[in-house]
Amino acid sequence: MEFIKVNDYQDMSDKACSLMIEAINRVENPVLGLATGSTPEGLYQKLIEKYSEGKVSFKDVTTFNLDEYVGLKREDVNSYYRYMKEKLFNHIDIEMERVHLPNGTADDLIAECKNYDQKIQEAGRIDLQILGMGINGHIGFNEPGTPFSSRTHIVDLAASTREANSRFFPTLEDVPRQAVTMGIATIMESKEILLLVSGEQKAEAIARLAEGEISEDFPASILRNHPNVKVIVDEGAMIKLNE
Ligand code: GLP
Repeated sequence: MEFIKVNDYQDMSDKACSLMIEAINRVENPVLGLATGSTPEGLYQKLIEKYSEGKVSFKDVTTFNLDEYVGLKREDVNSYYRYMKEKLFNHIDIEMERVHLPNGTADDLIAECKNYDQKIQEAGRIDLQILGMGINGHIGFNEPGTPFSSRTHIVDLAASTREANSRFFPTLEDVPRQAVTMGIATIMESKEILLLVSGEQKAEAIARLAEGEISEDFPASILRNHPNVKVIVDEGAMIKLNE
């Protein structure tokens, strides 16, 4: 695991953007794994800028998002589908039929999970997976205790995750209690992983990622076993690292 230390959120977003464009331009028909949350918003903004400057095209890109809330329709203001459209897809030349997110309103959610895994398998691989990290070490919505062998599955969201994400909803009660998430085994099969971490609220999590043990109690710790992970981390998130 390589730590790339940057000053702040803007620098983290710039660095992630250039690594992502490099990957898109290096690979034929690239397959990207995408994340939501506040962390990658700056990256998506930069990608839109680079696209409008003609520095990158997404027309041959396939994407798989990590997760989606259960029970929110695609057009819901808080669905991750809507987030991705507004923050990235509406502004670039990606073909929407190559865009994939789990469907959190499927009648049969278990079948939907299988179907999602199947589609990833058909794509053959994820060339570059973007990740954020929850304060409890969750990646995607794989909460502490999720088996490292997991594939796409339905999760009960941890109280701390619902609380952290309640900033996007009118009240805590409105935050969905479940989500569908890509599993840890699938994330680990990505050829390359870029974990973005910014801000003091993540400092504890970064210290645990760098110095703690590899355990299902802290899902992101498994990334230490992956051969090609870059963690782009800003000063705020590094304040608890022993150097
Ligand atoms: C969310 C998402 C994750 C995200 C994480 C951190 O709940 N499901 O994919 O990485 O929690 O979110 P943020 O970037 O807003 O801190």
